[in-house]
Amino acid sequence: MTKEEAIRKLEQYGQEHVLAWWDELTGEQQASLLEQIDRTDLAVLDNCKKRGHTYPRGTFAPMKTMELPEIDARREEFAEVGREAIRQGKVGAVLLAGGMGTRLGSDNPKGMYDIGLTKHVYIFQRLIENLMEVVRQTDAWPRLFIMTSEKNNDATIAFLKEHAFFGYREDRVTFFMQDMAPASDYDGKVYMDSKWQISTSPNGNAGWFSSLMKAGLLPLVEQEGIEWMNIFAVDNVLQRIADPVFVGATITAGVEAGEKVVRKNAPDERVGVVCLEDGRPSIVEYYELSQEMMDAKDDKGEPAYNFGVILNYLFRMDALLRIAKNELPLHVVEKKIPHIDENGQPIKPAEPNGCKFEQLVLDMIHEFKDCLPFEVVREREFAPIKNPTGIDSVESARELCRQNGIEL
Ligand code: UTP
Repeated sequence: MTKEEAIRKLEQYGQEHVLAWWDELTGEQQASLLEQIDRTDLAVLDNCKKRGHTYPRGTFAPMKTMELPEIDARREEFAEVGREAIRQGKVGAVLLAGGMGTRLGSDNPKGMYDIGLTKHVYIFQRLIENLMEVVRQTDAWPRLFIMTSEKNNDATIAFLKEHAFFGYREDRVTFFMQDMAPASDYDGKVYMDSKWQISTSPNGNAGWFSSLMKAGLLPLVEQEGIEWMNIFAVDNVLQRIADPVFVGATITAGVEAGEKVVRKNAPDERVGVVCLEDGRPSIVEYYELSQEMMDAKDDKGEPAYNFGVILNYLFRMDALLRIAKNELPLHVVEKKIPHIDENGQPIKPAEPNGCKFEQLVLDMIHEFKDCLPFEVVREREFAPIKNPTGIDSVESARELCRQNGIEL
């Protein structure tokens, strides 16, 4: 892209300030900035105006969850189906590790966070320790895809190599990077990271499938005969990956997708809740739940919208390919965005100061024809680390590890 073309594009989106330092830049910096302007989707910035607005939704209805008593009664049957699928190489796993972990406040990738007290226990290590249990049960090594972003890719790879992948086979691990989206102030003016770099951030965890395709990994998926992808978050230190019982239950149900869920601990708990929307599976965010939905009861007298997702999904590959082109909602999220000010001075904000634009994996659920909500015991499988202290924190995750006999 030439400078003139860049000016035209910036004018079109009201972002002329991006070239404020042009004359101070070296030739190389100028070229890099032009290249970034060319590949950055500036149209998303207009969504800043929609901050706080929610998307129009359809008609919600309760969705039946497979609950623990049924799972317990059929545990061995499901586990055998799941183990067999894993042995045949039909199950791959995708670790979503492209997030910035801004709430935790560490500059390193979240997976490098050490929750140990008497020894090192890194988040990545905890995840792989759990996956190794599946390896022991099946004698198979599910392909582990790790999605990073350009902000944390090198640090993530170097860390895992340094720790010999915590015992996982390196040749069974494949990294890919997700796409980035520009980040802006509340008026939709893009922030600058430096005088020649637009501030960008990962485009949300729903970016995983298009990024996997863009990285040219579909032939590998096909070649290995992967039929199911287990997508999971980096920050749950009790996360069960390629769980044979979950895999087996989803395959047996004959559905396109499965989602692990926990029983909500309060009607207004801040989790996405499984439901039907216009007859198709969906997830309603806690802030979209009406009082009526919170009060609704099922035929057993239990809350009708009682199960929340924990960012552990199983998706069938053929269905993923079918829905790949569908447009998902774009969420405008308020975050702390480090940048340079108009004098070129670096600013590291203590409070949210602008918008990032993300598509979320939970919105993929509504694209599938059917989905199995699969209940798990919260205390055994859900210990997310979002914050340094308080709810969903290092402290609460340590306590849950202790309850599960995990030495820290
Ligand atoms: P969160 O929604 O908790 O976001 O991610 P985050 O970026 O990690 O943390 P905060 O909000 O800045 O504090 C849930 C999961 O989705 C992944 C994260 O790595 C985590 O596993 N994720 C999130 C991505 O892989 N890419 C993204 O663009 C966003």
